[in-house]
Amino acid sequence: MLRVTPLVELHGVTRHVALPNGTTLQILRGVDLAVSPGEHVAIIGRSGTGKSTLLNILGLLDSPTDGEYLLEGTPVGTLRGRARARRRGDDFGFVFQQFNLLAGRTALENVAAPLLYARGKKFWTRTRAAAAMLDRVGLGDRLDTMPEKLSGGEQQRVAIARALVRGPRVILADEPTGALDVDTGRAIMDLLDTAATDTGAALVTITHDLAIAARADRQFRLADGVLVPITLDDAGEPYVPVMAPAVAPAVAPAPAVAPAPADGPVPEDTEAVA
Ligand SMILES: Nc1ncnc2c1ncn2[C@@H]1O[C@H](COP(=O)(O)OP(=O)(O)OP(=O)(O)O)[C@@H](O)[C@H]1O
Ligand SMILES: [Mg+2]
Repeated sequence: MLRVTPLVELHGVTRHVALPNGTTLQILRGVDLAVSPGEHVAIIGRSGTGKSTLLNILGLLDSPTDGEYLLEGTPVGTLRGRARARRRGDDFGFVFQQFNLLAGRTALENVAAPLLYARGKKFWTRTRAAAAMLDRVGLGDRLDTMPEKLSGGEQQRVAIARALVRGPRVILADEPTGALDVDTGRAIMDLLDTAATDTGAALVTITHDLAIAARADRQFRLADGVLVPITLDDAGEPYVPVMAPAVAPAVAPAPAVAPAPADGPVPEDTEAVA
């Protein structure tokens, strides 16, 4: 059978951080994952198990300590500076639990922001492209509204429009429905699913909600630093087919760290997308 090259592929990815007290925190201990175009993968796991760390590595906001990350067959470790920033801006769209919209900027300005770094036609037509994207998420009549005047669900729609405006190959959603009620969350997932299906993008969703996870093509649990495939039974309760005991997080839960905006500065690589 012909093997399609996965869009993203992780082999034995680890992420360790040195703590001020001289110890090493092993957040990821050897993650394997392959996601193909058009596929929707869900990741669940207890707080502090490294889900956001993994998503940040996938989105080139962070780097593995060891292991291999192939982006359409290209070893990401070989990408530096501008090339890496360009891949991040061109290939990934981020959606976060807390929306992360720019305050004091209209919905339209928020969605157009990633296009400031785009080149060519997209740059010159950015306002039109941003307006069209807001229309697509059902906010065509709220272009000039400030985020603080929008409901949570509407703010997440703006964030989704911002994530999609550059036509990403991979949409990375970190608890996208975590701040929304059940019905609004479902509508937001409908939007993400549809956007991913329509554009052939891969969608990786982190969630604590099993009903949201059940919508994906494949589900995983992150526990003890590794990713384990799971299935969801009829009652919606996940069980793990291979031995993977529920392990208490090895470390204290993460402090609330504000993730970088989609095209904003990132800790290790602050270049704008050229
Ligand atoms: N740069 C860092 N320095 C020190 N500790 C870190 C760093 N990045 C992450 N951690 C720690 O690693 C662990 C995993 O963090 P992460 O944010 O990935 O967890 P999570 O699974 O997304 O949790 P939650 O469900 O609460 O969002 C946490 O204990 C966090 O404090
Ligand atoms: Mg997290």
